[in-house]
Amino acid sequence: MSLTGSSAAAPLEPHNAVLPKVTMPALGEMKRQGKPISALTAYDYATARLVDEAGIDLVLVGDSLAMVVLGHENTLAVTVDEMLHHTRAVRRAVRRALVVADMPFGSYHGSIGEAQANAIRFVKEAGAEAVKIEGPRVELVRALVEAEIPVVGHLGLTPQSVHRMGGYRVQARTVDTAMQLQADAVALASAGAGAIVLEGVPREAAAAITAALPIPTIGIGAGPDCDGQILVFHDLVNLTFAPPARFVRRYGDASALFRSAVEHYREDVEHRAFPSDGESYHLPEAARRKLQAAENHESPCSAQEKMKQE
Ligand code: KIV
Repeated sequence: MSLTGSSAAAPLEPHNAVLPKVTMPALGEMKRQGKPISALTAYDYATARLVDEAGIDLVLVGDSLAMVVLGHENTLAVTVDEMLHHTRAVRRAVRRALVVADMPFGSYHGSIGEAQANAIRFVKEAGAEAVKIEGPRVELVRALVEAEIPVVGHLGLTPQSVHRMGGYRVQARTVDTAMQLQADAVALASAGAGAIVLEGVPREAAAAITAALPIPTIGIGAGPDCDGQILVFHDLVNLTFAPPARFVRRYGDASALFRSAVEHYREDVEHRAFPSDGESYHLPEAARRKLQAAENHESPCSAQEKMKQE
């Protein structure tokens, strides 16, 4: 337990108090105004709060948490209940950004009714403001939007299709596949998707899709011409223990920072340099005297005398 204070009650950064809440329609408006959309993943209260207070527009509770937080080999194992747990933590932290929850593998691959029921859980039980689903599932997007659930589509390199793709490979590398990708994106937009993540596609294909769509594209490994960009938080700050993909830019080195802090702490504990007297709680003076007297089997007054002499 931490006695540091309730971080949930700590005051918000001023910008959060003045900037309006980001909504799905607001993202569309940003596209129309040519304003780039910033997006990042977050999976817990602390990082979500930092991301939101930094003014990021969209926070995705990505199923990438299966890999970067839970240590799985790919994203397939994470469950609806685990995703709900992390989405709730993020929701508690975020005041301004749009909170989007990733529907995990298996949660929308059965009937539309089952998928709708799972998506409703993200909104009702975890406070998500939209869900993200992978692939050109046009009828499902239509059904979710009809159920009042905003949807972010995800096309191109869709990590939940890792086995079908035979690995994480850049998609839409030919004219035919690029045109198919564009047709899928247009169909998702017509079905009511509010935005589409384009992952692992050539810059030229992403640029053409972005120009063709009335809704924003948010790129990851899709070049600079998308309406917005998203990265995995752990990639951004070097917490992934692996060489970064070509599209990742590291803006900080949390691994080095955390490692050195933890090593210093261990050394201080081993050398009894932590905690100091100033980092300790103390009994009130009278109680200290009583305790000392009890330990010395003498009256509190003589203990007081002794302390004065010291
Ligand atoms: O799960 C995730 O982090 C994602 C991003 C890569 C877009 O889907």
